Amino acid sequence: MTDSAALAGVMGWPIHHSLSPRLHGWWLQHYGIKGHYVPLPVAPEKLEQALRALPALGFAGCNVTVPHKENAFALMDRHGATAARIGSVNTVVVEADGSLTGHSTDGIGFTNSLRQEAPGFIPGKVMLLGAGGAARAVVDALQQLGATEIRLVNRTQERAEQVATELGGVTVVNWAERSEALREVNLVINSTSLGLIGQPPLDLDFSPLPADAVAYDIVYNPLETAFLKQAAAVGARTVSGIGMLLHQAAPGFASWFGTTPEVTPELRQHVLAGLTP
Ligand code: ATR
Repeated sequence: MTDSAALAGVMGWPIHHSLSPRLHGWWLQHYGIKGHYVPLPVAPEKLEQALRALPALGFAGCNVTVPHKENAFALMDRHGATAARIGSVNTVVVEADGSLTGHSTDGIGFTNSLRQEAPGFIPGKVMLLGAGGAARAVVDALQQLGATEIRLVNRTQERAEQVATELGGVTVVNWAERSEALREVNLVINSTSLGLIGQPPLDLDFSPLPADAVAYDIVYNPLETAFLKQAAAVGARTVSGIGMLLHQAAPGFASWFGTTPEVTPELRQHVLAGLTP
């Protein structure tokens, strides 16, 4: 260890809308840590060069985000157990010998936000919409949490079938039957980009959803999506995606800067104030 400031950042393309510098910046200041967390615009064809340059540049590591999570996986020297299961990396740690370890913390972000915002809740039968990278992380997290059934629904059914083949323990449901599939579930999750600002809303009839269910939207801009409003209207508890963003950041911060940070209402307010409408 030297006494120079620790460095970390987030690689993405584009990266200017990322809330991660705001999020890590708040923690650095809050804990009085001498460090910097910077946005790193990296084009897809430069990803390998950029990752390999981290040790020489003195970086403790970085986050990787859209569109790099799967490509970064292939470029790591080793993987954490979760990353190895889902084939995706969002957190890179530079080891003492300059090698790179890739972790995936999206699933732990999902789990810890659910624990914080729906205390005591245990997933049973679950319906999950979407089959992208976020869906893979959520399926893995649900399996770790002991969900008894995971109904996976995606517009492009082949992608859902691919997730089912690769991760196992998932029942693929036809997109046209998504509303019916809400029957008897105690958790419904949107991991599609529908409902995100500028995108159409998700078309789902919530009437079959049991009133004691939890609805979780990984979208956090807007904070209160039509999905969450409609679920609340049938009595469901709702959890917005901002908690997943905040909680997925904590393990990386702990590795790079040596302090395990807390997700507090103040942090949440600070990060939300950085959302561009
Ligand atoms: P991420 O890695 O963030 O999950 P992604 O891989 O682009 O992002 O996945 C986006 C998800 O939103 C997919 O499940 C996608 O469905 P398809 O696999 O059919 O593309 C879903 N999605 C995006 N636009 C959609 C739309 N108009 N209707 C239904 N699903 C949509």
